[in-house]
Amino acid sequence: MIAMILIIDFGSQMTHLISRRLKDVGIRSIIIDPDETMAKIKFHQPAGLILSGGPASVYEKGAPSINKAIFKLNLPILGICYGWQLMAQLLGGKVAPGQNEYGPAQLMIMDFSDLFYSLPSTSQVFESHGTTVMKIPAGFKVLGKTEDVRFAAVGDIARHLYGVQFHPEASHSKKGTQMLKNFATRICNLPIKTEKIDVDKIIAEIRDKVGNHKVIGAFSGGTDSAVAGTLTAKAIGKQFLPIYIDSGLMREETLGRIKNDFPKVLGVKVRVVNARREFLASLKNVTDPEVKRKTIGNLYIKLFEREMLKDPGIKFLLQGTTYADFIHSQGTKRSAHIKSHHNVGGLPKNMKLQLLEPLRYYYTDQVRKIGVKAGMPKDMVYQQPFPGPGHAVRIMGEVTKERLAKQVQADNIVVEEMKKSGWYNKVFQCWSIMTGSSSTAVKGDGRFYGEVVAIRIVTTKDRMSADWAQIPHKVLAKLSTRIVNEVPGISRVVYDITTKPPATMEWE
Ligand code: XMP
Repeated sequence: MIAMILIIDFGSQMTHLISRRLKDVGIRSIIIDPDETMAKIKFHQPAGLILSGGPASVYEKGAPSINKAIFKLNLPILGICYGWQLMAQLLGGKVAPGQNEYGPAQLMIMDFSDLFYSLPSTSQVFESHGTTVMKIPAGFKVLGKTEDVRFAAVGDIARHLYGVQFHPEASHSKKGTQMLKNFATRICNLPIKTEKIDVDKIIAEIRDKVGNHKVIGAFSGGTDSAVAGTLTAKAIGKQFLPIYIDSGLMREETLGRIKNDFPKVLGVKVRVVNARREFLASLKNVTDPEVKRKTIGNLYIKLFEREMLKDPGIKFLLQGTTYADFIHSQGTKRSAHIKSHHNVGGLPKNMKLQLLEPLRYYYTDQVRKIGVKAGMPKDMVYQQPFPGPGHAVRIMGEVTKERLAKQVQADNIVVEEMKKSGWYNKVFQCWSIMTGSSSTAVKGDGRFYGEVVAIRIVTTKDRMSADWAQIPHKVLAKLSTRIVNEVPGISRVVYDITTKPPATMEWE
C-alpha cells in the first residue's frame, strides 16, 4: 500500500483544496476522474479515498457516479457534499432536493472518536448545497449535525465509510484541516511526512535537466514566473532568455521592476517587447469578457512565438506552474466553467519544447519562501497577484486607450493609498474597476455625467472563497476623494461589498 490518498473529483471548485489541506499536514494525494477510479486504485493502492463535492445533484440524469465496488474494498472512504450524497444513494439511503444551505454553519459534534478527534464540541463549517440526504444507509450513524442539517456528518465505523455534508477543505471550515488530517492519520493510518524546501537542490535539478541547452521563459511580472526565472538564472546564467511582453495592461510598477530590478537579481537582462499598440488594436470593439480573455491570451502566445523564432536552438520553455495550477489542470474536468483564466506564458501549441517547471510541487506561499531564500527582494516576492489579462478584465466593456489610462490612474491611487495607510500588505488584492456605468455629478457649478469607478479590496485564505476587506472609512474616503478629483471623467466611486462566492474576485 502506498502512503497516499486518492481524491475522486466530481467537479467541485474546491477539489484541489482537499489536496492542498492534506499537503499542508504532510499527506500525499492525487486527484483523479471518477471513470478512472478502479484502474487507479489498482495502480496506486491508496490508503483511502475521498469523494469530492460537485455541481450536479445525484438524482439528475447524467450526474457523475462511481463503481459501487469501491465500497467492498475495505478502503476507508470520506464523501464530501456531493461525494457523501452519492455514497448515501449508492448504499441504499435517500437523497432529495432540499433547502439551499449556503455559508458558515455551526457543527455540533456528537462523536469524537476518530474523524473529529481532538475537536471542540462545536465548530464552524462551510456549507454549499441544495441537495440533502433524507435517509442514511444502514450501518451509518450520525457523528455531527448543524441547525439545518440532521446528517451533517455520518459514519459507518465498522466499514470505515464517512460522509460530511459540509466542505472541510474550505477555509471557512475552521477545523476542516484537522478533520482531513484525522481521516488520513487515524482512519487511513497514514504517516505524516513533512517536506523541507531545499533551494540549492531545486537549482541543481534545473542545471542537471537543462545541461548546456537554452531555456526561454516569459515573465508576467508576477511572483511565480519571477521566482522560477530567478532559480533558472541562478542555475544556468546566460543560457536563460527571459522575455517580457509589455501589453500595457499590467500595473505600471511591473515594467520598472522588469527593466531595473530583475537584471540585478537575475544577472541577465530581460528582453522587453513593446506590444501596447497591438494589444489595444486587438481589443477594439471587444466587449464580451470571455472573448476579451481569449483575445489577450492568444496574442501573448503569438508574440511569444515570434520572439522565440529569433533564437534558434532553444530546447526548454520555463513555466512558473505551481502545485495549484498543476492540480487544477488535472482535477477540474467536471467542474462548471466560470472563466478562462490564463497565465502569461501559457504553452504555445505546436511548440516542440520541453517544459521546465521547477515550482510544480510548491504552492504560492512556499514559492514565496523559495524566492526569499534565493535572494529576491521581499517586495518583489510578496507583491499582490495580478490577473494575466491585467487591467482589461477590470475595464467593463471595450478597452480603449482613454479608459485604460483612467483605469491605470485610478488603480495607482488605490495602490498608493493602500500602501501609505499600511493596508496593502494586510489584504490579498486591491484594485479599481471601470464599471462602464455612468452617473450624474456636480463639478464646479455644472452638471457632469461621468463613469462610475468601483473599488474592490479582498481578503482570502485559499482564493476559492474571499471576503471584502473591512477597510477603515478614512482610507476609503481618501480613495474616493482622490479618484473623483484626479481622474478625469469619473463621477462617483463605490465600494464592492460582495463575497466570493457568489461573486468572483474580478468583475470579468
Ligand atoms: P476570480 O475572479 O476567478 O479570481 O475569483 C481569483 C484570482 O485569480 C486571479 N485571476 C487570474 N489570474 N490569470 C491569472 O493569472 C487570469 O486570467 C486570471 N483571472 C483572475 C484574480 O486576480 C484573483 O487573484
